[in-house]
Amino acid sequence: MNRRPLSALLAAALAAALAPAARAALLTRARLDALFDGRRPLPAAAVGAPAAARVSALSAVESGSLDAWLANERQVALQKMEANISPAGAAPGTVAASPSRANPDYWYNWRRDAALTMRRIVALYESSSDPATKAKYLRMLTDYAAFVRHEQTVPGPGGLGEPKYGMDGKPFTGPWGRPQDDGPAEEAGTLIELARAFLAAGRTDLAAGLWGDASSGIKADLEYVSHHWQETSFDVWEEVKAHHLDTQIAQRDALREGAWLARRLGDDGAAGWYDEQAAAIDEQLGRYWNAAQGYLDSSLDQDGGLQGKDSGLDSAVILAAIHRLPVDGEALTPDESAAFSVVDPRILATAEALKARFRAEYAINGRPGAPGVAIGRYPEDRYFGGNPWVLLTAAFAQLDYMAADEYIADGKIDVTAADAGFWSDLLGRPVAAGTSWRSGDGAFGAAIQALKSDGDAELACVRLHANPDGSLSEQMDRDSGYMTSARDLTWNYAAMLSALSARDKLAADRR
Ligand code: NOJ
Ligand code: NOJ
Repeated sequence: MNRRPLSALLAAALAAALAPAARAALLTRARLDALFDGRRPLPAAAVGAPAAARVSALSAVESGSLDAWLANERQVALQKMEANISPAGAAPGTVAASPSRANPDYWYNWRRDAALTMRRIVALYESSSDPATKAKYLRMLTDYAAFVRHEQTVPGPGGLGEPKYGMDGKPFTGPWGRPQDDGPAEEAGTLIELARAFLAAGRTDLAAGLWGDASSGIKADLEYVSHHWQETSFDVWEEVKAHHLDTQIAQRDALREGAWLARRLGDDGAAGWYDEQAAAIDEQLGRYWNAAQGYLDSSLDQDGGLQGKDSGLDSAVILAAIHRLPVDGEALTPDESAAFSVVDPRILATAEALKARFRAEYAINGRPGAPGVAIGRYPEDRYFGGNPWVLLTAAFAQLDYMAADEYIADGKIDVTAADAGFWSDLLGRPVAAGTSWRSGDGAFGAAIQALKSDGDAELACVRLHANPDGSLSEQMDRDSGYMTSARDLTWNYAAMLSALSARDKLAADRR
């Protein structure tokens, strides 16, 4: 008879009795590392090489398999994102931040998560040609727009700056960081994108329906944004009450875009007021550049909330750059349209400073051959262990792809004092301010390729730490890399899909 030794039986019984998290904690570091590394072997050429060589070794050896993983992940992300929109038992039009009901309880409709998720659905709606698929997305979008009107007319304690609602549609009334003024701005931004799609299809009636009036619809959010942007509010991470670069950029863009839409719909009075307020916000944005540190501060004028974010560094600044809406109709000067874009040297300098901090901060980034840099919210973060986040690692990939695409459109790259460090790290050699590359030069092509490879390395980092079935939790444990905190975070899937669409666009534009 094949009998297992008593110690193995005991170990199995013990393991079965422990929750998975506790079981993981019993594993030694060495065992954890062996398990971890065994799960996804790294190419030998990538192990132990210097950072720049590592990236190219990885992209050369792994890009084929990364493409295959991404093709599958796109389907996983789509399916899992859609599963969290109007889920069974919830009010139609709600978006659950995650199906996790405890530790953490994310069974809520957060307005920012919902807005950023539904922005992907707008893109899917516009790009799908199959009538049944298009109808499915249109239904999700009209339910969402109706739910937004519901939230606006049953506001919670934070008024239109209320951050989250129950999945039954009731305002959340417990203590929370409120108001969070990026919410209405991101929400308006998404609905304006949808209105733009309706106008492009000749459906002015549907766009006008979304526009609404001062009490509900896009206009209600824009009224709130235009009258409250001067006040402080809680940030995207719900912790710090201050003025925030990310929030202010979302507010400015919503107002600029909203002015364009208002004009298209004949509301010229509103358009003039929104343009004025957008311009007034613009005048504030230069304040965030911290010349002494060489990066953008994420927040200024703090008057409440969590203390101790001493570095001023925050990945929210990168979200601001990749979330910027295209401005239609209005002719911006080249300077205006470059400000805080993905190629703004201040944005690239901040991305570089964040990468350098997170490289040193998280053990998983120090593993030999680890692809890319796992990215967190900010260096001093302690929420759920203060780990790197999937959606932010995907955001850094998106930044690379979008920047490469922008440089191709510009036909040139001019390195400045602010972003020389970014380029030196990317290319693995010193690059001086004043260096300039032109489309057609070998060096220009090499810079574009380096951005693409760096973006792929960020996605390879997500791949390395993803669950085997492709599902993605909010965070990646800083020591083991395992997925942790809220499972199936909806925003993760939206972030992966946005990064992938930027990657597709770059591939098409390089052809
Ligand atoms: C819950 C919020 O969702 C999270 O962002 C924050 O870090 C913690 N509260 C701690 O304030
Ligand atoms: C905590 C994050 O800090 C916040 O940005 C997000 O809205 C909620 N979790 C829900 O995902």
